[in-house]
Amino acid sequence: MGPEFFSLFHLERNRFLYLIITITFALIFVFQYFDLPYGNILVPSKFHAADLPPSAPEIYNNITLLNQTYPQHPFQKVSETKLYEKNNTISRTDIGVNLTRDVNNTYVNFHSPSVNAERFKPLQDDVNVISSNQSSITDTVLPKENKSSLVKVPDTISISEMDKLLLQNYASYRSTRPRWSSAVDQELLQARFEIENAPVVTDLGNLYAPLFRNVSMFKRSYELMEKTLKVYVYTEGSKPIMHSPYLLGIYASEGWFMRLMEANEAFVTKDAKKAHLFYLPFSSRRLEETLYDRNLHGHRNLVHYLNNYVDMIAGKHWFWNRTEGADHFLVACHDWAPSETKQRMAKCIRSLCNADLKEGFMLGKDVSLPETYVHAQNRTSDLGGKPLSKRKTLAFFAGGIHGSVRPILLRHWENKDPDMKIFGMMPKSKGNRNYIQYMKSSRYCICPKGYEVNSPRVVEAIVYECVPVIISDNFVPPFFEVLNWESFAVFVLEKDIPNLKSILVSIPKERYLEMQMRVKKVQQHFLWHRSPVKYDIFHMILHSIWYNRVFTARIR
Ligand SMILES: *[C@@H]1O[C@H](CO)[C@@H](O)[C@H](O)[C@H]1NC(C)=O
Ligand SMILES: *[C@@H]1O[C@H](CO)[C@@H](O)[C@H](O)[C@H]1NC(C)=O
Ligand SMILES: *[C@@H]1O[C@H](CO)[C@@H](O)[C@H](O)[C@H]1NC(C)=O
Ligand SMILES: *[C@@H]1O[C@H](CO)[C@@H](O)[C@H](O)[C@H]1NC(C)=O
Ligand SMILES: *[C@@H]1O[C@H](CO)[C@@H](O)[C@H](O)[C@H]1NC(C)=O
Ligand SMILES: *[C@@H]1O[C@H](CO)[C@@H](O)[C@H](O)[C@H]1NC(C)=O
Ligand SMILES: *[C@@H]1O[C@H](CO)[C@@H](O)[C@H](O)[C@H]1NC(C)=O
Ligand SMILES: *[C@@H]1O[C@H](CO)[C@@H](O)[C@H](O)[C@H]1NC(C)=O
Ligand SMILES: *[C@@H]1O[C@H](CO)[C@@H](O)[C@H](O)[C@H]1NC(C)=O
Ligand SMILES: *[C@@H]1O[C@H](CO)[C@@H](O)[C@H](O)[C@H]1NC(C)=O
Repeated sequence: MGPEFFSLFHLERNRFLYLIITITFALIFVFQYFDLPYGNILVPSKFHAADLPPSAPEIYNNITLLNQTYPQHPFQKVSETKLYEKNNTISRTDIGVNLTRDVNNTYVNFHSPSVNAERFKPLQDDVNVISSNQSSITDTVLPKENKSSLVKVPDTISISEMDKLLLQNYASYRSTRPRWSSAVDQELLQARFEIENAPVVTDLGNLYAPLFRNVSMFKRSYELMEKTLKVYVYTEGSKPIMHSPYLLGIYASEGWFMRLMEANEAFVTKDAKKAHLFYLPFSSRRLEETLYDRNLHGHRNLVHYLNNYVDMIAGKHWFWNRTEGADHFLVACHDWAPSETKQRMAKCIRSLCNADLKEGFMLGKDVSLPETYVHAQNRTSDLGGKPLSKRKTLAFFAGGIHGSVRPILLRHWENKDPDMKIFGMMPKSKGNRNYIQYMKSSRYCICPKGYEVNSPRVVEAIVYECVPVIISDNFVPPFFEVLNWESFAVFVLEKDIPNLKSILVSIPKERYLEMQMRVKKVQQHFLWHRSPVKYDIFHMILHSIWYNRVFTARIR
């Protein structure tokens, strides 16, 4: 069955690649001519720093980790970034770029004009707060990788087309045939059979059927994962890039996954022969922090580091060679992760926050990783929001205006309509209260892409029980393998931003009520726990990896 399907897939992919290559060249040509001004990140100066009360960071939760106590706050990014701040200059020695803000709160690069040609982006893409003074600016600025990510392929793949593509890939795509057979291959095949023939379940426990593509299949798959799955975690590799989870900020989910996976007793095995999956425990955040050097142009040395790591483990153990990495997986949230891992790790199951179909994300193989600030989620008082009768705002967005979509959103909706609370950055408030209050009291929370497709707003909206409105073409939402996203979220194409209000208003009240109720039901799947619990975000990430392995594995 393999070869025909495989070549069919290749045919599709070749056509797709050809399209991308053509457009890439066209765009490179255009970009070189117009030298687009990515450098200036605009911070609307609507709110004046002087009006704002100074505020101490509010401690929401303290989680003892790695022998340290971090004060945790869902949106406070100061703790992560102030390391790099000196007066009002943001200086990152590992980048070698100095940036400051001019009187209009616009970033300007004053020390090193040559970098103006590069794209800049905040390290933490989604800053939604203007700090009350310049010494606590919450975003640092990083050059943007300037290769494939510059490509903006004009056509878009809608969410329903993604559904089709996913099913098509499950039907046709198979990973590399193992070089020799192993008992685990049979177990995977058996699991696939059992999932595809799952009995229709009536006792769902705390699962809510309408959230899932097929809840019976999900439940069976999850049970089989609990019963069967064994993961081998490589011990090779030195800190900080390997084995050293980074648990804060916008990329925290990769760190939390690493921490919980390495400590896990139920799934981890030391016997590689028993392993269905092999985990490559690196942090894309630490990789950038440790090795990025802008003088080397691009991030080639980061890629080299990962390639060398693969060479090392492939030379030392037989595990890699058996499937050329197809039974290996990585979990990486950094924006650069798709391009860092597209060479030696191309066949691995890549769990990526930057789950962009236009950046090589492969439906059915790769896994969309939720982008979340990981904390405060255990305070049940913090979950949820106002009852519907008190959700007076139709739609809310606040945040940094970067990337291509947000300026358009603001142009059409900022200060245009009292129902549409669309802002740039919000003024700092104690505990980020304003931002949270808007989320808790709005019916829809707009989640437009920033520089990259993902945004922590998607999970924030779910946490505050606000129906997410995703405006990010070609973004594969988390747990897409199993969740029926359209049952609880709204997808608006970027080109439809001018119609945003009419689209939202046209959703009947009954439909809205149903979606909002489902948002509450889906919440459990997006929460982190220090000790993972059934169906939580840790297990959902692992499950999606397992599920994709099950559906793509081959036997000898
Ligand atoms: C932080 O943790 C310690 C020890 O678990 C606890 O006693 C303290 O009350 C916590 N502080 C806050 C602000 O939650
Ligand atoms: C924990 O921190 C203390 C003080 O910083 C240090 O002496 C100790 O070695 C640390 N323990 C571990 C396990 O890292
Ligand atoms: C901030 O700037 C002042 C004057 O420019 C300088 O004296 C001081 O050392 C600077 N502080 C830091 C932390 O760089
Ligand atoms: C950045 O600023 C620091 C201190 O002002 C200076 O020592 C360093 O050379 C600057 N770096 C660049 C790349 O201009
Ligand atoms: C600041 O903004 C004002 C009004 O938009 C503009 O006239 C001025 O040139 C800007 N200043 C700088 C340094 O960009
Ligand atoms: C900036 O705010 C911090 C607290 O957020 C405060 O400690 C510091 O003194 C302020 N700096 C200035 C220049 O206002
Ligand atoms: C779910 O999958 C099972 C097993 O393939 C199938 O019998 C059942 O009809 C499916 N349910 C739905 C609602 O598609
Ligand atoms: C980024 O652009 C520079 C200059 O255009 C080029 O030298 C460099 O190789 C590019 N980096 C990547 C990763 O393509
Ligand atoms: C795996 O394959 C590579 C190249 O094909 C080879 O260099 C390496 O020695 C092999 N590893 C083992 C453990 O045999
Ligand atoms: C959250 O609370 C529950 C019950 O109190 C506990 O089992 C779980 O470990 C907590 N999770 C975190 C991240 O603190």
